[in-house]
Amino acid sequence: MSKYKIGLFGFGCVGKGLYETLTTNNDLDAEISKICVKNKDKDRSPIASEKFIFSADEILNDDSINIVVELIDDAEAAFEIVTKSLKKGKAVVTANKKMVAEHLPELIALQKEYNTPLLYEGAVCGSIPIIRNLNDYYASEQITEVKGIFNGSSNYILTKLFQEGQSYDEALKEAQENGFAETDPTLDVGGFDPKFKLSIVIQHAFGISVSPEKIFNWGIQNISDEDIRFAKERNLKIKLVAKATAVNGQLSLLVAPHYIDSDNPLYHVENEFNCVLINGKYAHEQTLIGKGAGSLPTGLAVLADVASLTKEYTYNYAESRNLTVQEDLSEVYLRFDDPENVDLSVFENVSEKFVGQKHGYVIGKISLQNLKGILEKAKEGANVIFTSGKSAEIELSKLTYFYA
Ligand SMILES: NC(=O)c1ccc[n+]([C@@H]2O[C@H](COP(=O)([O-])OP(=O)(O)OC[C@H]3O[C@@H](n4cnc5c(N)ncnc54)[C@H](OP(=O)(O)O)[C@@H]3O)[C@@H](O)[C@H]2O)c1
Repeated sequence: MSKYKIGLFGFGCVGKGLYETLTTNNDLDAEISKICVKNKDKDRSPIASEKFIFSADEILNDDSINIVVELIDDAEAAFEIVTKSLKKGKAVVTANKKMVAEHLPELIALQKEYNTPLLYEGAVCGSIPIIRNLNDYYASEQITEVKGIFNGSSNYILTKLFQEGQSYDEALKEAQENGFAETDPTLDVGGFDPKFKLSIVIQHAFGISVSPEKIFNWGIQNISDEDIRFAKERNLKIKLVAKATAVNGQLSLLVAPHYIDSDNPLYHVENEFNCVLINGKYAHEQTLIGKGAGSLPTGLAVLADVASLTKEYTYNYAESRNLTVQEDLSEVYLRFDDPENVDLSVFENVSEKFVGQKHGYVIGKISLQNLKGILEKAKEGANVIFTSGKSAEIELSKLTYFYA
């Protein structure tokens, strides 16, 4: 009989991954008592049907259950399960980044009030232990930047578009079949999922709470053959990058596709792999790479949290640093179908411009506010890909491509 009894919510991709990693691991003093799911007609074999229940209360009101693991695909229902569990004094593990990001201040307050821990390593970059590292190892570092590839399914799609010339729809379908994509794929390809993760990372890296609504996000859904050709002609790749940079007391935040050159570690990160680059005052640049999605990698991250709860681990939520969120001017490539639909006069400067018969583009500096205005107006008729202007990513001045 184990000391720690788990009430598991959800038995999909990650729930099954947790089940397999837990049941093939003999070192843990924890066992799954009940599994709450939604659909009564689904076949759950080879697991005994008595283990499955359909009412949350059977776990919430069971005093023998001391750990709740929430792995469902419904953020609102997940928030209810997590808050009720914490209030009942049950330790909680979740992998739901949307739910955590949208309610983090409230969840931190609940943990303090009820003296009950909540862990969510599986919510951010799958198997990469980024939250644990930020909470523990980097607690004494003065982090200046955290950035990287935070979404496995969009990286998988970009890999297939670049390496295998697959269509966007084919690549998305394959990502979904492999269990990398969210139930609602807009969360992945629209850059929302990495924005939720960035919001959680900011709390642990910089000690400040920034609601996901306040972070600019643009996804990969409008990437066209022209954008890919532009990259290939210059030996660049496109990667969906989430980025938080602290300079002189100002924090700039962004989720957007970026042109990346081969000197950047992100260039070499393919398929469902994620990568986190951390820069700090003392250790300088460090890189963490690992599988960012999938049943067993994410199941392992959840299992690691369960194991930590058995050792009474909690996040320490360091005091906040004096940082103000600021929107910088960004250097971007903006591609458009119809020049009539884009107001290029709002660019602060333009370093390259091309207008052809079927499409055109401009490269230059623009404020995020003005960029949002252009993208909202042009809808599917435009796409933006960022450059950092730093040598590690892309230096536009070095581009040597000329149009006849
Ligand atoms: N997939 C990944 O690689 C990955 C990686 C990191 C984090 N995550 C996160 O992990 C969570 C689970 O994702 P997933 O991919 O495992 O989802 P999934 O495969 O779609 O499975 C969802 C599970 O939740 C159950 N469910 C839905 N609503 C419920 C409710 N109200 N009460 C009880 N059970 C409910 C479903 O029940 P039925 O079986 O009856 O349909 C199903 O078992 C999500 O928050 C996701 O963002 C996923």
